[in-house]
Amino acid sequence: MNAAVPEPASNAPNWVRHAALKQWVAQIAELTQPDRIEWCDGSEEEYDRLCEMMVQAGTLRRLNPDKRPNSYLAWSDPSDVARVEDRTFICSLTEEDAGPTNNWVDPTEMRKTLDGLFSGCMRGRTMYVIPFSMGPLGSPIAHIGVELTDSPYVVANMRIMTRMGRKVYDVLGTDGAFVPCVHSVGMPLQPGQNDVAWPCNETKYIVHYPETREIWSFGSGYGGNALLGKKCFALRIASNMGRDEGWMAEHMLILGVTSPEGQKMHVAAAFPSACGKTNFAMLIPPKQLSGWKITTIGDDIAWIKPGEDGRLYAINPEAGYFGVAPGTNEKTNYNCMASLRENVLFTNVALTDDGDVWWEGMGPAPEHCLDWQGNDWTPDSGRKAAHPNARFTVSAVQNPVIDPEWDNPAGVPIDAFIFGGRRSDTVPLVTEARNWTEGVYMAATLGSETTAAAAGKQGVVRRDPFAMLPFCGYSMGSYFAHWLELGKRLEKAGATLPRIYCVNWFQTDEQGRFIWPGFGENMRVLKWMLERIQGRAHGEENLFGVSPRYRDLSWDGLDFSSEQFDAITLIDTEAWRTELQLHAELFEKLRDRLPAELASHQERLSAQL
Ligand code: GTP
Ligand code: SPV
Ligand code: MN
Repeated sequence: MNAAVPEPASNAPNWVRHAALKQWVAQIAELTQPDRIEWCDGSEEEYDRLCEMMVQAGTLRRLNPDKRPNSYLAWSDPSDVARVEDRTFICSLTEEDAGPTNNWVDPTEMRKTLDGLFSGCMRGRTMYVIPFSMGPLGSPIAHIGVELTDSPYVVANMRIMTRMGRKVYDVLGTDGAFVPCVHSVGMPLQPGQNDVAWPCNETKYIVHYPETREIWSFGSGYGGNALLGKKCFALRIASNMGRDEGWMAEHMLILGVTSPEGQKMHVAAAFPSACGKTNFAMLIPPKQLSGWKITTIGDDIAWIKPGEDGRLYAINPEAGYFGVAPGTNEKTNYNCMASLRENVLFTNVALTDDGDVWWEGMGPAPEHCLDWQGNDWTPDSGRKAAHPNARFTVSAVQNPVIDPEWDNPAGVPIDAFIFGGRRSDTVPLVTEARNWTEGVYMAATLGSETTAAAAGKQGVVRRDPFAMLPFCGYSMGSYFAHWLELGKRLEKAGATLPRIYCVNWFQTDEQGRFIWPGFGENMRVLKWMLERIQGRAHGEENLFGVSPRYRDLSWDGLDFSSEQFDAITLIDTEAWRTELQLHAELFEKLRDRLPAELASHQERLSAQL
């Protein structure tokens, strides 16, 4: 098998007719020196073959087919378990364009560094060519990418997460546009050297060139670092496309919600990583509100474009879910558990003795299992069995409440935007913005407690504007301006903009316990929002917007007192003085490109407080 590097152009199958693409593949092969090039067709046969190969190599374990049919488990290297924000770079031509919240290196210098790292980095490995579409194939709002990777684990994940395979070449034709994505685990093999189960490199670079719309990723095989269609393309590069072309790429779930009368609305909601997007997107309303129905369009990313009628239409560019496993169970997210019954790739969860998976919060702990590092684990071992960022990869169509329109190339019209962070105090349960600017201010000043310190009140609050801090591919101040301008333009054309809401499910009591029951009960808050839009629900104005009083929400079937409600809705003046000071600090950091309206809104709030 270890033939000399094949001539890539001749190695390409006849269904690839794009000369520039073949030339690019040849050029990257020349640089990285793989033993082989494999042009992926996205077939089931290919997926099965690669999974079997990874089982042989020790990268994957096949789970018990009686318990979890057609499913596999991967354990990563302990040093490669999550996105690496401090190794993520936006290499725009100028530092100002990347802005103060992104890591920036001069692109010429970065290209030199990467040339060195990628030189010969695929020796002893196969380079896979993965064609993928973000969004329905051939849809006018979809965009195409091609990822070159030396990781078969990435190929298998990309097949679930995107529309991947041969059909993409039909759309690309002989000269269609695509975003080139180069990925390597950064561990070349010398002749005769044995591979490890999870190759990676201590040195990591996740690099974006926004002007040329290129992605280069080195050293990690995990999640958003390696599945380049997701955060790198669909958020960091796409946010640049959106700014230039008048649309938005957002870290948002998209859901459909149908009222008991049969009226359907659509909501897009931004929460930072591991703050409940997947849960909210598949929510099951409590029994007493069972006339309401939630359906999922997407759980992580939304591409939103103005339609001919001036409304904003959203599509989910992805085709699968790469979701957080710990905390997911039949109670917190029944639909998610139902999606995970078969055909799943699990990463960094525990392996039970009967060949199934387990994680903290899934249900009763097994008496014995192997933890995510392959060590013996018992409930008294004092360690977590699954890594806190353990994930599942599963196709969206396995979701029992997938929305019938989820694949509609035209997208769904958005009626409301929701922004929420993890805040143990200060931020009330729900507030409605009175206008677009107020809503943009709420989103821009979103804060969230770091999840590692989520227990008790110790969580460190970090500003995470629009839940996009690690994902906005250009200057954050310009991104705020883009939101304001798009809104103004649509409003001027006579469109009704989506209402904007700010929520917080995460206030805690003195013992650090969540006060709001959350999960399915969030339907009560969602119901209030939708009835506000329909002009049916009441609320009360306060400094920050409009909030419901106790009597404005439905409490049927939930034991939640007005005292508890007060605890998570009253505005603590002292806490808000500190909060507004933190908003001011963020704005000071973003000063160069901060829209004046946001600064003056902050000043007005401070004065009124
Ligand atoms: P990424 O995939 O990282 O972007 O995150 P996500 O926003 O999709 O995260 P996910 O839905 O997987 O959130 C997981 C965590 O949020 C788990 O620890 C859940 O228990 C917790 N969570 C979700 N919804 C709620 C809620 O309503 N209340 C509380 N208290 N916790 C929640
Ligand atoms: C997130 O961190 O927001 C994720 C997981 O959705 S990853 O794809 O790894 O970025
Ligand atoms: Mn995410």
